[in-house]
Amino acid sequence: MKVGIIIHSFTGHTYSVGEVIKRNLDEANHTVELHKLDIVGGEVRDEIDINKIQFSNNIDINQYDVLVFGGPVRGFSISPSLKAFLTRVQDIKDKPVYIYVTHYFPFSWMGGTSAIKQIKVICEEKESKIIGTGIVDWKNGKREEQINNLAQRIKKDIEAI
Ligand SMILES: Cc1cc2nc3c(=O)[nH]c(=O)nc-3n(C[C@H](O)[C@H](O)[C@H](O)COP(=O)(O)O)c2cc1C
Repeated sequence: MKVGIIIHSFTGHTYSVGEVIKRNLDEANHTVELHKLDIVGGEVRDEIDINKIQFSNNIDINQYDVLVFGGPVRGFSISPSLKAFLTRVQDIKDKPVYIYVTHYFPFSWMGGTSAIKQIKVICEEKESKIIGTGIVDWKNGKREEQINNLAQRIKKDIEAI
């Protein structure tokens, strides 16, 4: 499978999880490309107006069989940058999509669950096929285990398509 992993990450947590996901898929001989959304002018951390967020990446998502979207939680919500990207993305109808978020607090209900719900709504409006979701609770003592489990799940779910 050709897999595109598209990440918004400000301090690097979400990106580092994307690297683990990529490594797992690489080891299983999938073709994987990891993209970090590059915000024009650099990220203004508290910007919530998605119309003011532009990207310099030119990602051709049509080339991928599967997409993995990842981003950090911001105020119990999807990060504005990932929202800006997903709101504008085209041609993901029927595309298998995996979604994950990272957040600071130790339990998923402290922002992760609500952010995932929001991302799902956007992807479902675009009629993509959500094959799974994941949350990494950064302050959870079992974080490394969560990350490895997520990477394993993504590999398994992609291979089940
Ligand atoms: C403005 C802002 C709001 C945040 N809101 C939440 C939140 O509601 N719940 C949470 O658990 N973490 C929250 N966080 C923490 C980030 O979600 C967390 O550190 C995440 O892993 C950062 O990912 P990144 O390094 O990929 O940017 C917030 C961070 C920032 C900067």
